[in-house]
Amino acid sequence: MYWCACALLFSGVWSVSPPVPDQLSLSGTWTLSSHDGALVLPAEVPGCVHSALLREGLIQDPYFRFNDVSYRWIALENWTYSTTFTASAQLRGKQEVELVFDGVDTVASITLNGNLVGKTDNMFRRYDFSIRELLKEADNLLQVQFLSPVVYASERSRAHQSYRVPPECPPDVQKGECHVNFIRKEQSSFSWDWGPSFPTVGLWRSVRLEAFDTLQLQQLSYLPLYNGSGSQWELQVELLVDAVRTTGVQVAFSMSELDLEQAFQTQFLSGRTKKTFTFHIKKNSQVKLWWPSGHGDQPFYMLSVRVFGDGFLMLNRDVKQVFFRTVELIQEPIPGSPGLLSIITASTIIKTKGCQLESPGSTHAFQNRSPPCHLKNLLRSAVDANMNALRVWGGGVYEQDLFYDMCDDMGIMVWQDFMFACAMYPTEADFIQTVREEVVQQVGRLKSHPSIIIWSGNNENEAALATNWFNISTPQRPVYVKDYVTLYVDNIRKIVLKEDPSRPFLVSSPTNGVESEREGLLGLDHVPWTRFASEYGFQSWPSFSTLQPVSVKEDWSFGSNFSSHRQHHENGNQQMLQQAALHFHLPNSTDPLRRFTDTLYITQVMQAQCVKAQTEFYRSSRSQIVGGKGHTMGALYWQLNDIWPAPSWSSLEFGGKWKMLHYFARSFFAPLLPVSVEDDGALVIYAVSDLNVDLKLRVVVTVHSWANLDPVCSRTSDLQVVPGSSAVALYKQPVAALLAGCGRCTRLTCLLTFHLEDGAGSQRGSDNYHFLSSPREAVGLQRANITVKVQQDGAGFSVTLQSSSVAAFVWLDVGNIPGRFSSNGFLMLSRNKTVGFEAWRPTSAAELSRSLTVTTLRDVY
Ligand SMILES: *[C@@H]1O[C@H](CO)[C@@H](O)[C@H](O)[C@H]1NC(C)=O
Ligand SMILES: *[C@@H]1O[C@H](CO)[C@@H](O)[C@H](O)[C@H]1NC(C)=O
Ligand SMILES: *[C@@H]1O[C@H](CO)[C@@H](O)[C@H](O)[C@H]1NC(C)=O
Ligand SMILES: *[C@@H]1O[C@H](CO)[C@@H](O)[C@H](O)[C@H]1NC(C)=O
Ligand SMILES: *[C@@H]1O[C@H](CO)[C@@H](O)[C@H](O)[C@H]1NC(C)=O
Ligand SMILES: *[C@@H]1O[C@H](CO)[C@@H](O)[C@H](O)[C@H]1NC(C)=O
Ligand SMILES: *[C@@H]1O[C@H](CO)[C@@H](O)[C@H](O)[C@H]1NC(C)=O
Repeated sequence: MYWCACALLFSGVWSVSPPVPDQLSLSGTWTLSSHDGALVLPAEVPGCVHSALLREGLIQDPYFRFNDVSYRWIALENWTYSTTFTASAQLRGKQEVELVFDGVDTVASITLNGNLVGKTDNMFRRYDFSIRELLKEADNLLQVQFLSPVVYASERSRAHQSYRVPPECPPDVQKGECHVNFIRKEQSSFSWDWGPSFPTVGLWRSVRLEAFDTLQLQQLSYLPLYNGSGSQWELQVELLVDAVRTTGVQVAFSMSELDLEQAFQTQFLSGRTKKTFTFHIKKNSQVKLWWPSGHGDQPFYMLSVRVFGDGFLMLNRDVKQVFFRTVELIQEPIPGSPGLLSIITASTIIKTKGCQLESPGSTHAFQNRSPPCHLKNLLRSAVDANMNALRVWGGGVYEQDLFYDMCDDMGIMVWQDFMFACAMYPTEADFIQTVREEVVQQVGRLKSHPSIIIWSGNNENEAALATNWFNISTPQRPVYVKDYVTLYVDNIRKIVLKEDPSRPFLVSSPTNGVESEREGLLGLDHVPWTRFASEYGFQSWPSFSTLQPVSVKEDWSFGSNFSSHRQHHENGNQQMLQQAALHFHLPNSTDPLRRFTDTLYITQVMQAQCVKAQTEFYRSSRSQIVGGKGHTMGALYWQLNDIWPAPSWSSLEFGGKWKMLHYFARSFFAPLLPVSVEDDGALVIYAVSDLNVDLKLRVVVTVHSWANLDPVCSRTSDLQVVPGSSAVALYKQPVAALLAGCGRCTRLTCLLTFHLEDGAGSQRGSDNYHFLSSPREAVGLQRANITVKVQQDGAGFSVTLQSSSVAAFVWLDVGNIPGRFSSNGFLMLSRNKTVGFEAWRPTSAAELSRSLTVTTLRDVY
């Protein structure tokens, strides 16, 4: 390969219209049949069997009541998808015709006109087959015969004789299927502790024929590489090409904004070849960088790629957005500290923003029912809550391109797991082989996205082995450690480091990083006061409007069969109430429905408070090390969203409605935030800043009585410098001393609010509060008389509240009208308050007024 000046190629020749390879989409309506032909129905591709049955009215809503159990039979059946198509003479006249499946879920034999063209065993791979010789003009019959994924997994497990590969089955409470670790399929589809068992079957991505005479581009990816010592940006562009025969070509690249125009002479060998081209960016100083949300913009450059053979244009791609950014995982020992400092930096500055996890990556248990607008809404909700990072969790799927495109555009950093979760995995040759292909393909597909900042080998498998979740005896342990290293280190890590030198790779999430590696990859000490909290959380129930469509009246109590059926976490419902009972009076209305909806509410209050407390603790720890611990540089709570209406750790309900936690996240992830910590009777208030500028700030602490809307007294700290990206303690005082100077207050009768202000007395950042006792002990809290008024306000709506007394956790709910408030679940410490409502479909002030309910803590007992 050599560089040549090809100005000529860039002028004139491009106007020749290129011979575009012929494509024939085979997506659309296929025929689906059960193994004995008893059921024959139309089925959409992309899609799955469940969706097809639902569409034809052959099953009810799978999320309704106990239908997850009623519809177990679907995944125990063998299904066949078939279609017929016509192949034009033009298409058949091409030198090569490939049959391409972007996603097959999962175990299938594919035949064309009765000839076996291939077999599949991995949902996460793209498959293509050379089929030119098998085509005829009309009535080509393409069949995909699926084997039950549940039966397949169980057979593979039975064939694995030498030792067990746990967990054999999920806990009974999950009502799921067994041995999911033996099939390369979305692991949560066999059930999870927040999700249903719907082992899907089907063609879940598009299907097509691609016909060409010489070359076909399979993949175009790029990596910007920053050479720190030379202050040089390089761009590596990689072409994956299928060639009918060995072909000499010129490959020309241009990125006009950075004055990049280069061409290379090269050849593609017969078959599939990958070629990498590297350029130095000359206008280094002008390169505009991609920044995470809240730290800057997400600029990009357009890259054009043309491939010429013998004077004519063979390939022409001119829309590839190229983003420049760097990312680094810093794991340096801190003197005198047992841990390591872990900071993720992007675009050369330290990134520490509160972040959060993505659960199943998708908005539905059935991938194809996740429409793009849901995805957009999901990511918009994350950014609106001041999140700048998500983890794509290892029990779900590698997300669709659109997801990463949106993350690129919105500045969301993605912690990308490989799809292995909470289990040991087999390491037979064919299993390793299909995983290797999966990893090569997925890294190739995803590595151009700046949003992905880190790869991780699996979810929690290090923790599972290190803390022996599966009761593996000591003599047996080396077998599992060996399998672990084989899969994640010797295979996955090796491939990732080779295919993508631009990002850090962690063997597991969570992990102690290099410290784990020193301990033989199985870190033992998962301290809560961590350098980076990649997972923590607490459960809650979704709101009534989300449950109502999937339940009936007899289900509407916390003790109903339905309520226990939906709870997939052992003792989950009891745990929520036990925790809530520590801090709140549990709902005891004599009206059963009211008592149920109040209980849903109290679980959301408890969840919001729990995650708030933990996140604020982490954020306040960013600048301090106590006894070697602290310096917490990231917080990703579990979990962002739900894939069905059920209790879980999520902050967004199925359908996208914000739980109280999500409103709280908007505050506790704010770029500038006051945080209180009480330690041994002493109150400390920090200013936590993720800003890039230094500020001079003070704290204003106000003491309120639970019994009266008028504040009791207030205290102000001195002005102090709060450097950008730091947490500074601005106020310290024993609570007793604070209250002593403040009239009749006690820990039971009063609470504190506080905010930051600058030297001019203007408030900076949001308000926060500090309880001096559990709210269940609060003395003087009245049942407030709150009146509300909804008005149209420009494109949105405003809700004005007037309250007769102090109210806690004021919750506004407009049922199933989609949208969100500007603030919710707040403390009402003034007579009046106005919040906005952003509707996600057309509505009116009258409709909102009719649907609006207000619940406060004092209303539930
Ligand atoms: C599905 O196919 C497998 C393999 O051919 C067979 O053993 C099994 O009995 C079939 N299941 C049903 C329900 O027909
Ligand atoms: C970085 O640039 C310097 C100076 O141009 C060069 O010597 C060095 O080899 C480069 N390093 C890498 C990894 O490309
Ligand atoms: C764990 O395994 C040991 C034998 O190795 C057995 O005695 C014990 O009952 C097992 N515990 C559980 C919880 O399965
Ligand atoms: C709850 O489920 C149990 C066991 O299936 C059943 O016996 C009982 O009748 C159910 N109760 C109600 C109220 O449906
Ligand atoms: C609640 O407040 C409204 C408006 O302030 C008033 O009209 C109404 O009588 C009050 N209701 C009760 C029960 O006090
Ligand atoms: C609260 O709103 C009411 C009605 O709009 C108004 O009369 C009252 O003055 C307001 N009170 C305060 C303290 O702003
Ligand atoms: C509910 O609990 C509260 C607080 O314990 C108590 O004062 C009230 O009487 C109870 N109400 C009912 C209906 O039991």
